[in-house]
Amino acid sequence: MFNTFPFRTAKKILFGTGTIEQVGTELRAAGATNAVIVTDKTIAAAGWAEKVQSALGSAGVLSVVWDGAESEPSVEVGERAIDFTRAGGFDAVVGLGGGSAMDIAKGAAVSLTNEGHIMRWIKEGFKRPLAPLALCPTTAGTGSEVSDTAVFATPELKVGLVSSMLYPDVAIVDPGLTVSMPGPVTANTGIDALCHAIEGFQSVQANPLTDAIALESMRLVNKYLRRAYCKGSDMEAREGMALASLLAGIVMGNADTTIGHACGYAYVYPATKLHLPHGFAIAITLPHVMEYNALAQFEKHAMIADVLGEDVEGIPLREAAYLAPVAFKTLLQDLGLPTSLQEVGVDKGMIPMIANNVLKSPNHCRRNPREVTEKGMIELFTHAYEGMLACEM
Ligand SMILES: [Fe+2]
Repeated sequence: MFNTFPFRTAKKILFGTGTIEQVGTELRAAGATNAVIVTDKTIAAAGWAEKVQSALGSAGVLSVVWDGAESEPSVEVGERAIDFTRAGGFDAVVGLGGGSAMDIAKGAAVSLTNEGHIMRWIKEGFKRPLAPLALCPTTAGTGSEVSDTAVFATPELKVGLVSSMLYPDVAIVDPGLTVSMPGPVTANTGIDALCHAIEGFQSVQANPLTDAIALESMRLVNKYLRRAYCKGSDMEAREGMALASLLAGIVMGNADTTIGHACGYAYVYPATKLHLPHGFAIAITLPHVMEYNALAQFEKHAMIADVLGEDVEGIPLREAAYLAPVAFKTLLQDLGLPTSLQEVGVDKGMIPMIANNVLKSPNHCRRNPREVTEKGMIELFTHAYEGMLACEM
């Protein structure tokens, strides 16, 4: 007997190399005639915005590029995009880029059909469905194209606009757009996808659909992330990672994340002024989050260890479960990513404040399979500061 559960995602997903050519026909079918393309300067300089404009033009959709997206966008950056969108007479939005550009695009699409601004929508919600929206990732990791969230930073903390209306009309996942990502960006975004799959698998909101998708996503990351990192032109690896990221995004859009993401947010800007890429900021502490949560979920963590390539055949379940963080840490080392907080500039004296910040994320704590205590978080961050797993002590 299963519990009842909902399952939501983008209204349509187009996956595969070359699918970006269809952005015009897809957006036109959703009612667009004049679209703003929300992107950043790097993506625009790479020629992708022009390619999207040409595909839109072929389908009879006018377009203008706004390339002001920034990583970890502040509310102000989001508002700038909204002002531009409202002033331009547009009736549709394309988000083209990493998670930041796609999150800003969601805000822009809300602004075309709703009064108000980002902070008001976060506090009070919004009522009307978005203007036609296509989301096209150029990295393989954030999963924002199939999530119901847009994250912005205020001077104090990161805040999320969350609504089931934020799913786009179409998510176009074209692995060809990810080929030019340099190795470190491939590693940083790919590890974020793995965190989404693992945390969604741990989440108390997980269901049989998200569990199956999460395991397949983890298997794909284990198979392809090292390859994509070593050789960016390996198209099979790029396709594998684009699919892994999409699957992890679908998991996140339903089961959401646990304290893995809260622990990552707890020690980066704006909490400490440390500006670190999202993926590895989360990933540094994730082995320790897995160790913390394994006690509550031996079976699930043994399954994670298995799909991440550990030999769990014939060993006790408890031992198999604690191989999951070992496998994750090995992947971090293979990708040249940091494995301790001291390596990235965290001071030991910050640990009580950082630990306390996790408790300020009540939704992450609620979804976590093990109760989150201040004492538990101080211990977790002490281990993360040293970068030592219990089995290594
Ligand atoms: Fe993430």
